[in-house]
Amino acid sequence: MPPVIQISGLRKTYRRIARQPHHALDGLDMEVSAGEVHGFLGPNGSGKTTTLRALLGLIGTDGGDMRIFGEHVPERLPRVVSRIGAVVESPQFFKHFSGRLTLQLLAESAGIARTRVDEVLEQVGLRDQAKQSVKGYSLGMRQRLAVAQALLKQPELLILDEPANGLDPAGIHHMRALLQWLAHDQGVTVVVSSHLLSEVQQLCETMTIVSRGRRIIDGRVRDIIDGHSGTRLSVRFADAGELTAASEALTEAEAKVSVTAERDRLLVAGAPDAAWVTKTLADRELYLTELTTESRNLESVFLELTGTAPHEGQAVQVGQPAPQAQESAGQPGKIELPIGGDQ
Ligand SMILES: Nc1ncnc2c1ncn2[C@@H]1O[C@H](COP(=O)(O)OP(=O)(O)O)[C@@H](O)[C@H]1O
Ligand SMILES: [Mg+2]
Repeated sequence: MPPVIQISGLRKTYRRIARQPHHALDGLDMEVSAGEVHGFLGPNGSGKTTTLRALLGLIGTDGGDMRIFGEHVPERLPRVVSRIGAVVESPQFFKHFSGRLTLQLLAESAGIARTRVDEVLEQVGLRDQAKQSVKGYSLGMRQRLAVAQALLKQPELLILDEPANGLDPAGIHHMRALLQWLAHDQGVTVVVSSHLLSEVQQLCETMTIVSRGRRIIDGRVRDIIDGHSGTRLSVRFADAGELTAASEALTEAEAKVSVTAERDRLLVAGAPDAAWVTKTLADRELYLTELTTESRNLESVFLELTGTAPHEGQAVQVGQPAPQAQESAGQPGKIELPIGGDQ
């Protein structure tokens, strides 16, 4: 079975009057397999909404290849659109209609049985508010109605852009249970974008992390977090000029080790232990002057992965290139940043 979603080398440039063109998608790759809840994770402005809009044929692109259920899109979207439910744009409803009437009209126009309306109202938790007019709905209730609308046609693929936005904790909990039920009991493939790693961690089995329009890493959520959240070793040398050689020595000695240069030190993850680091470096006549351990929280993992971690005295702004380029984009499991230069 082909992947449900397959994107390769997707490019989208927004051309703006009197400003530099903005490369919102810069060769993005993404793959989603059937039956999983897949998180599409990245900081604000990293290109998630742009990608989802492109997939659904809502905007044009400047290059790359996209397939849904193995069919090229947008060219062959008409062949697969009936199998896709999506909430990407913030949906507009007639304010004076009730939730139920809104769905009934949509069901009727799509030739869907009326009984389905009550089913989806129940599923999204709007049964008791179904008679109220949408005017009185909270943002969270509108979000649920939008999901109900997307579920009407019993899609095989459900795409939701930041579904937790506007929901209170109880609403988020309900949405999570609903999406997991859809995936695990109903066999629906679910793609959910988010800018919060903790949210994706609680909801999704697999994820694609994107930053500045490129894939940074993808795979099983647990593997990615485990691979990056362990204790790191911070290593300093008398001469910062030794950082490059030290980084090479460590990564050559052990494939699982990843090294990040940060100003005058190296952050080493995946090393067997501190003694191994000391010995490996000494074998190359590199003598460290300081070795400390530091454990990291989930947030710092995400910041490191997406390269927007603030550097001392220098907060990286959304849309601004971080001082460290993501040279290893698309190489799952290993994040290496270039060393040296003016960092
Ligand atoms: N219509 C547009 N015109 C110009 N720039 C846009 C437009 N839509 C999005 N962008 C820019 O493209 C980048 C990616 O945006 P978006 O896909 O909305 O990111 P995300 O959904 O990950 O927050 C951002 O820098 C955003 O400012
Ligand atoms: Mg967005």
